[in-house]
Amino acid sequence: MRMRKKTWARPELAECAYFTDAPEPFRGAWAERFGEKRPLWLDLGCGKCVFLAELARRNPESNILGVDISYDILGVGRRNIEAIAPNPKNVQLVFFNIEKLAEIIAPEDRVQRIYINFCNPWPKKKHHKRRLTYPRQLEMYKTLLAEDGEIWFKTDNDELFEESLEYFEAAGYEIFALTRDLHAENDPENIESEHEIMFTREGIRTKALKARPKRTGV
Ligand SMILES: C[S@@+](CC[C@H](N)C(=O)[O-])C[C@H]1O[C@@H](n2cnc3c(N)ncnc32)[C@H](O)[C@@H]1O
Repeated sequence: MRMRKKTWARPELAECAYFTDAPEPFRGAWAERFGEKRPLWLDLGCGKCVFLAELARRNPESNILGVDISYDILGVGRRNIEAIAPNPKNVQLVFFNIEKLAEIIAPEDRVQRIYINFCNPWPKKKHHKRRLTYPRQLEMYKTLLAEDGEIWFKTDNDELFEESLEYFEAAGYEIFALTRDLHAENDPENIESEHEIMFTREGIRTKALKARPKRTGV
């Protein structure tokens, strides 16, 4: 369902010290933009930031960069951040197309963790390449991840999940954690995103995996 236009979103984001829609100059220098060098975690398609805000609140020792392509959604996200983790020192929000992520993140930014939560499943075959877990995307993330960097992926969508298992394998990742019913594990460290809350209420199970690039060393 399309969100109603939020006329207040862009003016509020323009006043927000931790938002930018011109992130290119920070490529390779995100630690300076955050004001302190800490492990860098990305939330791709951060949406309304229910997950990101709680993640930032629980992990002040990490820098958390949220990326989304909707001003209206990011505007709601900023309000949620201010409600959950006001004036965060460890959050940056960016309006940008994830398909071009390598234009704003450099290997020297040393991404430690990438979160992909409930991304669009793009069910039609002709659109599969737009999936955030499509091999072409996973190959690009590999160039940005630190040696011990990881991807944490969650989805409601069975088809996307099963096909993503193949994508991660094809792109040279090892999957080191996997569940088709995350909530059955009652992991207190799991933070629910807004879509996770919604789908769980509908009785849909959350599928999740954690993966890291396979090391090819001796
Ligand atoms: C289904 S929502 C999930 C939001 C949140 N992660 C959650 O779990 O509730 C997908 C989000 O990804 C964003 N998005 C989709 N494609 C994108 C792209 N190519 N670049 C940046 N953001 C994108 C959308 O604007 C939307 O906010």
